[in-house]
Amino acid sequence: MIYALIGHVPMGHKHAYDNNSKRCKRKNLGLKAEVSCVFVMKKPKVLESLGLRKDWIYEAIISSYSGTLAHAAPMGISTPDHERLVAEIYKSSRTCANILEKKAYAVNLSFDVSLFYDSYNKKESLIYGRAENVEAPILANADAFLEISVTGSEDLGDRIRFTGKIAGYSSRREPGEIKLINRGDALALEALIAISRIPSASIEEKESLLREIARICRVVSRVAPGSAAEECVRVLSSRL
Ligand SMILES: Cc1cc2nc3c(=O)[nH]c(=O)nc-3n(C[C@H](O)[C@H](O)[C@H](O)COP(=O)(O)O)c2cc1C
Repeated sequence: MIYALIGHVPMGHKHAYDNNSKRCKRKNLGLKAEVSCVFVMKKPKVLESLGLRKDWIYEAIISSYSGTLAHAAPMGISTPDHERLVAEIYKSSRTCANILEKKAYAVNLSFDVSLFYDSYNKKESLIYGRAENVEAPILANADAFLEISVTGSEDLGDRIRFTGKIAGYSSRREPGEIKLINRGDALALEALIAISRIPSASIEEKESLLREIARICRVVSRVAPGSAAEECVRVLSSRL
């Protein structure tokens, strides 16, 4: 049975629905808007249903609390097994300190690059709601929200690798409508463009293009291992 995870419904109670497209409103903590959500999935199935591929890195916006102050920043997320969610976060960031403090955060999924821009460079414009199951804010303008409870952390030197479990999920769209951002395909196109410029490039330009192509190959393998994009850049760069 598919059931729904309800956040802050007006009565403040949790409900489970067997209808997969019930709508409700989340309180927005007295900020500018309510977050209207469609709640659709069993927690264990969320990552798979959203289409996350194991070990691929997806770009998202992580929101967290510093005390009671809501904060957000763009971050990469991945899953090794469709159960755990992983984020590697620089120790120098506020987000890292917040997650260490609260042991929780929210992953806001959006295909809107301007929301990424705002969460990096125009943070004062962000509108927040509140996650239901963990102590974290959510971004009112994102398409879907994963509530993450941190279960482990690993010190990687300049970063901390946080592992967490899905404590809640809600969305403003049906799962099939939620588009994820993975950089693999865009990077493969960049590599193709760089490769196509080589025949007419000067020696210096060619060296620079080859360095760029090698960098792209490394990043594609990191963000989309086993993908068609990785195979494409591997074959093309092996012929250079
Ligand atoms: C698309 C995108 C993805 C990012 N991914 C990460 C990441 O996975 N880990 C990280 O520590 N920083 C990442 N960053 C950089 C942080 O967003 C940036 O350092 C930010 O200033 C940290 O914010 P904070 O100090 O306000 O928490 C990413 C930035 C962008 C634009």
